[in-house]
Amino acid sequence: MGVTKVKMVEVGPRDGLQNEKEFVPTDVKIELINRLTEAGFPNIEAASFVSPKWVPQMADGSEVMAGITRKEGVIYSALTPNMKGFEAALAAKADEVVIFGAASEAFSQKNINCSIAESIDRFAPVAEAALANGIRLRASISTSFGCPYQGDVPVESVVDVVKRMKALGVQEFDIADTIGVGTANQVYEVMSRVTEIVDPAQVAGHFHDTYGQALANILSSLRAGISIFHSSVSGLGGCPYAKGATGNVATEDVLYMLQGMGIETGIDLDKVIDAGDFISTYLKRQNASRVGRAILNK
Ligand code: HMG
Ligand code: MG
Repeated sequence: MGVTKVKMVEVGPRDGLQNEKEFVPTDVKIELINRLTEAGFPNIEAASFVSPKWVPQMADGSEVMAGITRKEGVIYSALTPNMKGFEAALAAKADEVVIFGAASEAFSQKNINCSIAESIDRFAPVAEAALANGIRLRASISTSFGCPYQGDVPVESVVDVVKRMKALGVQEFDIADTIGVGTANQVYEVMSRVTEIVDPAQVAGHFHDTYGQALANILSSLRAGISIFHSSVSGLGGCPYAKGATGNVATEDVLYMLQGMGIETGIDLDKVIDAGDFISTYLKRQNASRVGRAILNK
């Protein structure tokens, strides 16, 4: 039997906004997260406790976490590259922390300023502290389908990092297409290899839509038994350390596809479209969701 239920992780407030050049006021971030909560997401990536020199847009993570209206049962996640980030996430009462590494050495250096092996050493105390404090532990593996600096990334490199993350006690693994270059058969292969090592129920697809392949890649992942997907409302975003990378796949587009396939998400598409309109209007940007535009212009 195929996948009948999907967990959607809304990453717009973090991955979507982190690349914005102009600082987005804290109250706008809070309003966006509150609207997404109301739309019914089970998991929202709300903050990133990284160096403010590296990613100034995310400098107000503590204020954002303190200002949102939390809904019972919703997981509000925060990125934590090291213990300093973890301490901030703990103080902010994050429900889940995300350690983030890469399957390519070049990207690891550019994004977090250390090698893959060093990153695992930095993540180890974060993982230990998260588990000791009863905080969910997720790991993101960037450049799993291609690297902006190195080019091709062998599937063995992805598998190797997943194994190392698993040894740290990670509970959910995000297989990320940072620059959106992956294609359907490759995605099927990578997801199939990863799910030989970890339960498919613990694996997520995180697809940027730079080359327009994200929906096809989600479909391919579904066929490989994956049932967790990340997306960004109105297709916001990019990565500050992946030049030219566009946003994550638009949440509205994924929801429309899943709805049409009879796959349950528990999310109210109309409310997501309104949230996408809210943030696109604020940013004075065309809504990057095709479904959002089609429905708003009806
Ligand atoms: P570093 O310079 O090697 O670290 O950076 P350091 O430990 O030497 O510290 C340098 C300075 O940063 C110090 O401050 C620290 O206190 C401060 P100074 O003494 O110079 O004033 N610092 C921090 N401040 C706040 N919070 C912290 C923190 N850590 C150190 N947690 C570091 C290493 C990882 C910190 C840095 O490289 C960094 O912050 N990188 C951010 C990378 C990032 O956020 N990238 C975007 C998110 S990942 C992503 O988008 C990909 C994903 O979506 C999946 C995909 O699509 O691929 C997840
Ligand atoms: Mg990303």
